[in-house]
Amino acid sequence: MKSEFLKYYNKRLHLEDIDLGEIAGEVGTPCYVYSRRSFEQAWHQYNSAFKERAHRICYAVKANDNLSILKALALIGSDFDVVSIGELHKVTAAGGNPAGVVFSGVGKTRGEITDALKAGIGCINLESCEEFERLESVAASLGACVNVAVRVNPNVDPKTHPYISTGLKDSKFGVPIDDARELYQRISASKWLNPSGIACHIGSQITSVDPIIEAVRHVVDLALGLKVIGIKITNIDVGGGLGIDYAGETPPTIKELVDGLCQTVPEEFKLVLEPGRSIVGPAGLMLTRVEFIKKTKDKNFVIVDAGMNDLLRPALYDGWHDVLTHCENLSGVEGEICDVVGPICETGDTLAKNRRLLVSEGDLLAVVDCGAYGAVMGSNYNARLRCAEVLVDESSYSVVRRRQTFDSLISDEKDVLIT
Ligand code: LLP
Repeated sequence: MKSEFLKYYNKRLHLEDIDLGEIAGEVGTPCYVYSRRSFEQAWHQYNSAFKERAHRICYAVKANDNLSILKALALIGSDFDVVSIGELHKVTAAGGNPAGVVFSGVGKTRGEITDALKAGIGCINLESCEEFERLESVAASLGACVNVAVRVNPNVDPKTHPYISTGLKDSKFGVPIDDARELYQRISASKWLNPSGIACHIGSQITSVDPIIEAVRHVVDLALGLKVIGIKITNIDVGGGLGIDYAGETPPTIKELVDGLCQTVPEEFKLVLEPGRSIVGPAGLMLTRVEFIKKTKDKNFVIVDAGMNDLLRPALYDGWHDVLTHCENLSGVEGEICDVVGPICETGDTLAKNRRLLVSEGDLLAVVDCGAYGAVMGSNYNARLRCAEVLVDESSYSVVRRRQTFDSLISDEKDVLIT
């Protein structure tokens, strides 16, 4: 249990001041529960670590796009990083300012670019020469000027899971750093595009500052080289934030990362950071209830009411999330080794493997550290309803996304066979 806001009190697990049993009783399970104080505190840690240094914290919406979380972050001054027009819609619906938004992603459609420009997007992070041509033609047709950063690929290994490594030369992301200078010359020759920044994101769940700093050094060299040929960029966007401690990892502190960035990037450049996981990851958990304890000769299975459609990380990335019982185990009995599995018809539907748990049918469990890339990656697989989300704020809580209904599950479909 890593979050300081998650603790046992009177033998029951609480998030902030709320007994999680109360939420499960009222809202049902499975459901996600988030601590507002936790994610706001993480955001403030990033913000204050920069001290007087010019910077922007653009929260990565992909980590958790719940409107109430976006709104809370907008209220404390966050900017945002989006990767689709849907995310931009959510940011504006939550009261965020499009002028404070950077738009990344390798496959922006003409429609998305058009809508982003019409909304007054802060910056488009370009990922290819082909995208440059598309952006220029859309901007010209709208008669709109737009800030751009080229996302460069520095070919640096972030030493993380291969699915979330993005800065190696065989990755689809970014423009090879050696080709970037020529692209900047084309951008600065354009009437519609303003080369305002350089962006770089080498991966997620990074637990050392070294690869990030190595990548940023390449970016600084590029920025200084561009200055020599008369192209003055103002922003250096270093991509996502730190990894978190899921299973004993020891990521650096936010201050260590920010100090390293401030030392590496000359003061003339404003630093932009796009953290997601380290803001909302530790702030969220998923509540699930035990349906059965199934024992076979070889294994003990704790079958719960949440599945890989609710939390995909274990199935997709071998993600490890601690599982806590709602009732504190003070019995002195340790429980048996078991796999915590969901009801979905796939063996990959295993939320936690080989854990020692003392549980019985009907018990409530909390799968922790899943505020990032949890609910957002949920699906309707096996026609299961998207689960509810709850925001805890000190001694009160609210349902910030209600559980999906069966009506909404089928409402977008058309039965063409009914005459
Ligand atoms: N900026 C860009 C351009 C990104 O691609 C990402 C994450 C971020 C920022 C935020 O990075 P963070 O601070 O969260 O590390 N679903 C995966 C993670 C995918 C991350 C994709 N990009 C997981 O559950 O581990």
